[in-house]
Amino acid sequence: MKIGLLGFGTVGAGVYHIISKQADLEIKYVLDLREFPELGDKLVHDYSVILNDPEIDTVVEVLGGLHPSYEFAVQAMEKGKNFVTANKHLVCHYFTELTSLAAKRGVAFRCTAAVGGGLPWLTSLERAKRVDKISEIWGIMNGTTNYILETMRSSPVAFDKALSEAQALGYAEADPSADIDGLDIQRKVIISANIAFNCLLTEADVPVFGIRGIRKEDIDLFKSENVVCKLTANAMRIDDGVAAFVEPILVPANEPDANIPSNFNLITFIGENVGRLSFYGQGAGRYPTAFNCVQDCVDIASGVKDFYAGALKYVPVYNDREEHYYYVRTSCPDSWLGEHMSKPMGNGVMTHLVSVKEMHAWAKEKIKEDPECFIAGIR
Ligand code: HSE
Repeated sequence: MKIGLLGFGTVGAGVYHIISKQADLEIKYVLDLREFPELGDKLVHDYSVILNDPEIDTVVEVLGGLHPSYEFAVQAMEKGKNFVTANKHLVCHYFTELTSLAAKRGVAFRCTAAVGGGLPWLTSLERAKRVDKISEIWGIMNGTTNYILETMRSSPVAFDKALSEAQALGYAEADPSADIDGLDIQRKVIISANIAFNCLLTEADVPVFGIRGIRKEDIDLFKSENVVCKLTANAMRIDDGVAAFVEPILVPANEPDANIPSNFNLITFIGENVGRLSFYGQGAGRYPTAFNCVQDCVDIASGVKDFYAGALKYVPVYNDREEHYYYVRTSCPDSWLGEHMSKPMGNGVMTHLVSVKEMHAWAKEKIKEDPECFIAGIR
């Protein structure tokens, strides 16, 4: 297999390094706007060199962002080249279009590294569906926010310092607000739910609350209550539809989800036959992410052409039917909060049972008035 690699950043350099040790894979060209003398004449600045080279059968994209990644994907597959990407933004946004194009052109489209870094998560969903019906998925799917929350919990480090550390370690997105405001994990749960349930969710279907507002006072309170705060993705079948949402949750300290260190992810699905299956490992960083990009190349070289799911369809979204208790802290309490409050909790309150839809709608408005407002589901 001869490969055109798009991007020589954190993940791209990892892909390059791993492939240099694979006997059957070769990177012929690397596309990047920057100069890298160590790449010699493998480095190109013009995508058409890769596109028009008939020897290159597979393009691996680790540029991130929607454009020009989308155009590069379409052009590669139109030219009959397989396409491998770690770009969840791209996959989430152009899911059916890219998979349909791959099917039409008879090429492979793989994106295992887009969710869970080095975990065999998407490939396991694909395999599980052959003999099972998946009812629910959830988990910690963002390494940066797990790193921040764990650092703040285990040391007196403030949010901004923990974020800088995660950036320096190569975990965070180019714009880390995608991590801390939950957009990165939202894309990952959309891709996962679409594959697990053969549905078609869009960003508008999946409410998100991130960890930007969390403060030391919250962390101290959670410690005293023997719970741990984690940013989680959640999706489950409900009748003929699904519920799907992203929010911080408070987990009892003795549960597996509460004990995930550093940049690690823990992602779980429930199958009717297999029961609970959880996947634990590094969800971000150079080599874990590169590992799955190269795994996709090896799969393609051995003949895998299918995408992880067949035909997908829009289904009703029932976030109004999924209810739980919430911790809410705001400096601007209002009548809605007064009506839904069950009892005080630290500097905030604990609510009665509230639907995900109602809680997120309230929080989305409240954060405009009080940017430091914080909510967390209680499990
Ligand atoms: N920024 C992402 C994370 C990278 O922290 O999980 C891996 O998708």
